[in-house]
Amino acid sequence: MAKQYDVLIVGGGVIGCSILYQLSKRGKKVLLIEKNQLASRASGAAAGMLGVQTELKGGSPLYRLAQKSRNMYPVLAQELKEVTGMDIEYVENGMIKMAWTEEEAQSFVSVASQTDEGEGVEWLSPLKLSAFEPYLSKQATGGLFIPRDGNVSAPKLTEALGLASVRLGADVKEYTDVYDFIVEGSRISGVQTSVGPLYASEIIVAGGAWSQSLLERIGVTIHSHPVKGECFSVKYSRKLVERTIFTEGCYIVPKVGGRFLIGATEHAHTFDETISVSGMMNLMKKATDILPNLIDADWEKAWSGIRPQTEGGLPIIGRSERWEGLSIATGHYRNGILLAPVTGIMMADLMEGKENPLLHSYRGSFRKWN
Ligand code: FAD
Ligand code: GLY
Repeated sequence: MAKQYDVLIVGGGVIGCSILYQLSKRGKKVLLIEKNQLASRASGAAAGMLGVQTELKGGSPLYRLAQKSRNMYPVLAQELKEVTGMDIEYVENGMIKMAWTEEEAQSFVSVASQTDEGEGVEWLSPLKLSAFEPYLSKQATGGLFIPRDGNVSAPKLTEALGLASVRLGADVKEYTDVYDFIVEGSRISGVQTSVGPLYASEIIVAGGAWSQSLLERIGVTIHSHPVKGECFSVKYSRKLVERTIFTEGCYIVPKVGGRFLIGATEHAHTFDETISVSGMMNLMKKATDILPNLIDADWEKAWSGIRPQTEGGLPIIGRSERWEGLSIATGHYRNGILLAPVTGIMMADLMEGKENPLLHSYRGSFRKWN
C-alpha cells in the first residue's frame, strides 16, 4: 500500500523547502520530491540578498510580504542552527544603492524621505559615501544606505531548510522526477514519478521555472517564463566593501571568507544555463567601474540559474480554482530567497485552512490562473 502523505511538494528549491519546513514544524506528514538535488537550480545560484528596499518599490503588493519575510531571518537562522548545526551565513550588513547621475541622486533623496522610519534608510552624499565605503568609485553622485537589508547563503539556507525538515520527520526524495498528476474526478490525488505513483491529500507545485511545463499536463496555465541570471565570485585579501553594493544591472555582495559575489545578468525565455563570455565581460566591466580594486582580486568561479518569472511580475501563491487538492507557489523571480520564509508560512496556513491576512490581501494582486 502506497504511503499516504498530508502534503506532497514538487520541487526542492528554497520555496519548496521553506514550505516543507513550516509544515514539518506543525507536525504534518510531508514528502518533497526533487528531480536533481536540493538547491540545484535557481536557489543554489542566488546571491542571497534580502533586498526589500533595493529591489521593490514601496507601493508594490510584495513590499509588506518582503518586509515581513526579511524580518523573520534572525529567528529562522537561529532555529536552523539549533536543528541542523548549519550556519546559513545570515548577516544584517545593509546595502547601498549607488547613484551615478544627479537625476538618480535626486530620486534616491526622495525615496529616503518617504521610506518607513523603522527601515532607517538614509541618503549619503558623495563625501559620506566615501566615508562609509572608501574603495567605491569616486564617480558616484551619492548612495542610498539601507541598513536592514542583509544577506544569506542561498544554497546553505535551502539545504538547511531541507535538513531541518527531515530532522522533524519529513521525507525528501532527490533524483526523482514528477512527470504527471493522478486525477480522480475533479481532485488531484497524487503524482506519477520516476519511482512510481505517490499519493497525498494536498499537492503543492513549487517547481520554479519548470512549474509551467508540469502543470500543462492537467491544462493549468500560469503564464510564467524563465529568466537566466549569470554570476561570478572572487576572493580578495581585504574586505573591499562592508555592505552590499547595488546598481542598475550589477551588485557586489560581500560573503564570509573574503569572498565577493558579483551578479547578475538577465536573459529571458531560455532554460540554457551556459555561461556567456558577453555576460561575464559585461558584469566585470560594471563591477570594476563600481569597485576599481576588484581588478586585483582572485577569480573563484562563475555559474548561472534560471529565475521563475510570471507575466504579471508577481509570484503565484495559492490554491487552484479548477483542481481540488492542488496548490502552487512559484514565480518569485528575483526575490525568492527574500520571500521564502513568508511563502512557507502562508502556504502552511493555507494547508491547515487558516486564514492568513497577508495572503488574503496579496491574493487579489496576481492575475487569475486555473
Ligand atoms: P528553484 O530553486 O529553481 O527550485 C525549483 C526546483 O524544482 C528545482 O530544484 C527543480 O529541479 C525542481 N523541479 C522542477 N520540476 C520538477 C519536477 N517535475 N519533478 C521534480 N522536481 C522538479 N532572490 C533573492 O531573494 N535574492 C537574491 O539575491 C537573488 N539572487 C539571484 C541571483 C541569480 C543569479 C538568480 C538566478 C536568482 C536570484 N534570486 C534571488 C532569485 C531566487 O533564486 C529565486 O526566486 C528562487 O530561488 C526560486 O526558488 P524556487 O524554489 O521557486 O525555484
Ligand atoms: N535578486 C538578484 C537577482 O535576481 O539577480
